[in-house]
Amino acid sequence: MNAPLTFGSNTSLEARKSAATPRGVGILASFYAARAENSLLWDVEGRRFIDFAGGIGVLNTGHRHPKVLRAVATQLEAFTHTCYQVVPYESYVALAEKLNALAPGKFAKKTMFVSTGAEAVENAVKIARAATGRSGVIAFSGAFHGRTMMGMALTGKVAPYKLNFGPLPAEVLHAPFPANGVSVKEAIKGLHMLFKADIDPKRVAAIIIEPVQGEGGFHIAPAQFLQALRALCDEHGILLIADEVQSGFGRTGKWFAIEHSGVIPDLITSAKSLAGGFPLSAVIGRAEVMDAAAPGGLGGTYAGSPIGLAAALAVIDVMQEEKLLERSETLGNRLRTALDGLRASFAGISDVRGQGSMIAMELNKPGSDEPDAAFAKRVQTEAMARGLILLTCGTGANVIRFLYPLTISDELFGEAIDILKASMAAARAD
Ligand SMILES: Cc1ncc(COP(=O)(O)O)c(C=O)c1O
Repeated sequence: MNAPLTFGSNTSLEARKSAATPRGVGILASFYAARAENSLLWDVEGRRFIDFAGGIGVLNTGHRHPKVLRAVATQLEAFTHTCYQVVPYESYVALAEKLNALAPGKFAKKTMFVSTGAEAVENAVKIARAATGRSGVIAFSGAFHGRTMMGMALTGKVAPYKLNFGPLPAEVLHAPFPANGVSVKEAIKGLHMLFKADIDPKRVAAIIIEPVQGEGGFHIAPAQFLQALRALCDEHGILLIADEVQSGFGRTGKWFAIEHSGVIPDLITSAKSLAGGFPLSAVIGRAEVMDAAAPGGLGGTYAGSPIGLAAALAVIDVMQEEKLLERSETLGNRLRTALDGLRASFAGISDVRGQGSMIAMELNKPGSDEPDAAFAKRVQTEAMARGLILLTCGTGANVIRFLYPLTISDELFGEAIDILKASMAAARAD
């Protein structure tokens, strides 16, 4: 029998954390997790929270989905690690087959696995470079692609992600993303400007884009823009990478958000909700592109952990059995209706946007375009005090995003919306 877990108080843990861990690992909550179940989380002092953060979009199937836990438990009994590159296992191949079938595009595909979103991005760029023999990579303003060197270079926001961490990899350029007052036409013009001023398109290996920007503020890349990117890529032999680390795996009501546009990317990165809370990420792409890297060039000791793979295979079953793509639409519509209703009472809600359940609410100073990060922070703090975990995002930190499990009950969803309303009223009264 295992000894029961014991915890310190939130205050004592906070003091130990400050002494033992660096401040660069920024932390939102001042309470510590003890346990979690579906859309609920309890802290070490027994307080209950409705989790609308899902560990940053990782828990579309909820905390500890029983089917995912069973698959992991079965795998734990068999083996936990061999290193796929030393002794392979079937689950790696089986999940690759499933993702190849689920990803858009009627052509042969191949998939490789790593552990984190940033690693998937790194590998997608490596593969694109190997396949094209070119080095340039274009990303967009406001983009977030991770905290590794290439992920950081691709990220279109300096503070805090790139601050004091240079020099960054060369030949990474940013074009304007069509949001925050930039039209599709202007964004395309921006790309043409890059091709004139900074890099010959024939030296560009890939354009990487989030079909819905995550950290950047839940801005949807308009279909017209994605179609224009596809055409530009085809014209110049550039590969199009859809970074679906946050927007993928059912969040927007489709397996991959880019499906809403009808555009077929050459490579897709996937992570977060792919494995229902276990670290696993993937690069899915055209078979011939994926095969460009030489044997041994891709992988890693923990790449494609059997635990993560077992979880991901169960996640796909759960998504299908529980019809979570439809559920994403239903919950998203319900939240959107509630937020649209709130707009009547709060002049500061300047926008409600999203696809499926990838929904966000932008807060500006009433009657202006000025981001109201302070109001967003107050809403978040008030919600936390009332037992609802919310995340912000956006280059102005003034967007509240909602990343609840798609498995949440209607009742808890309603409770969360009520807490949000009360928190907004309290935040405004401050
Ligand atoms: C679109 C996108 N790409 C890449 C990443 C990096 O993923 P990870 O934090 O797992 O490295 C993130 C993380 O938020 C993301 O949203």
